[in-house]
Amino acid sequence: MHSARPFQAAVGGGAFPAARAALALALSAIPATLVTFLAAIPVAFAADSPPADQKPLPVALVNALNTLAGGPHAGFRANHAKGVLVTGTFTPAKTAPSFSSAPHFAKAVPVLVRFSDTTGVPTIPDASPDASPHGMAIRFKLPEGGSTDIVSISANGFPVGTPEDFLALLTAISKSGPGVPKPTPVEQFLGTHPAALKFVSTPKPPPQSFGTLAFFGVNAFKFTNAKGVSHFARYQILPVAGEHALTAAEAAKADPNYLIDELPKRLASPVKFRLVAQVAKEGDVTNDATAVWPPDREIVELGVISLTATEKEQAKEQKALLYNPLSLTSGIEASADPILAARPPAYAVSFAQRAGQ
Ligand code: HEM
Repeated sequence: MHSARPFQAAVGGGAFPAARAALALALSAIPATLVTFLAAIPVAFAADSPPADQKPLPVALVNALNTLAGGPHAGFRANHAKGVLVTGTFTPAKTAPSFSSAPHFAKAVPVLVRFSDTTGVPTIPDASPDASPHGMAIRFKLPEGGSTDIVSISANGFPVGTPEDFLALLTAISKSGPGVPKPTPVEQFLGTHPAALKFVSTPKPPPQSFGTLAFFGVNAFKFTNAKGVSHFARYQILPVAGEHALTAAEAAKADPNYLIDELPKRLASPVKFRLVAQVAKEGDVTNDATAVWPPDREIVELGVISLTATEKEQAKEQKALLYNPLSLTSGIEASADPILAARPPAYAVSFAQRAGQ
């Protein structure tokens, strides 16, 4: 386990702590998109910066993802490197405005969606077990300008509850190659982290299509309506076509790009998802991405995402895009989940890496 340094979720506003300055120095190129993105990050790094021989946590996380992927791979994301961009519309449900005053819950808006495979390997076969969980990142273009994002995966829950544990898990995986004596570092990690064991042992069969997979926001957010009534909830993005997976035999002979290639054909008619909020009950844990709430929790319909076209210049547009789970709008706030707080700084490091190459 790496030294667990506190990663405090606090709205910035004071002096930039030393760790933030160290991160800025660690970035070889800081394009304009990233400057704007970093300025908008509503979390401060822990006030006590790491010792000089240690990387800031976001850099260490991206380095660990790079190591696992045999990267960095020039121009690609350190995680979810392989993906496809599609466009469409989000139409809010009648129930959405009374749940949150967010502008896109009152009026239909365009969306830009990126489906992806896990890992930083840009050529990973879509049916590989390592390609799961898949990703669905959604950018809502707001009526008055600006945007808000949801960045979700096809698993209900995360293997660990803190970024320090995520780094420990990634490091343990990379030290557990063939020939390593048992129990390997990753076996030891799973033996002491039941949520991680559950996550890796939950079957994640390759889907028939990105359009037949359910996605989960995993981190909780606080939703507030115009009357000031608030609820904690987690996003679920459910395929209208239903959830359908490949059989093992189909997966074994699936083309390496079968998911990316299938989507444009499926878009001949709209590919739809229900966006819903799973609402926390009094006492439910809202700051731990491993604490999955029971399925009997209230579900509020937020609307329908209807996807209709693929973007023309995939490589160029994917490279320029930086999704941010903390790019929020009025009526939606972050929870105190430390995994959520850790994501934007790590994404910024990855963006700098891929933009600079
Ligand atoms: C501490 C925890 C996490 C770390 C360190 C991490 C790290 C990263 C990094 C470095 C990227 C590449 C960003 C870029 O270059 O644009 C990425 C992308 C992504 N992550 Fe995470 N991640 C974490 C947690 C999560 C969670 C909880 C979810 C979902 C619930 C998630 C879903 C995704 C998705 C879908 C993408 C691809 C976004 C796109 O299509 O551009 N990640 N992650």
